[in-house]
Amino acid sequence: MYVCLCNGFTDRDVKNAIETGVDSVPNVYESLGAAPQCAKCSSHIRGMLQEERGKKTPTALSK
Ligand code: FES
Repeated sequence: MYVCLCNGFTDRDVKNAIETGVDSVPNVYESLGAAPQCAKCSSHIRGMLQEERGKKTPTALSK
């Protein structure tokens, strides 16, 4: 699914960037060789970053 129509990158592109250690919205654009234009996609990218961070949080600590 397209995340950014202005730059033509997908959720898979963003996930791949996050997996390589990209940890902020501006760095996602940069790693994909893109730049924010309308920035409508930035909140979705931010949500994806937060979701991926949540997956890395150890659940064993919640006992
Ligand atoms: S949709 Fe991503 S910058 Fe416009």
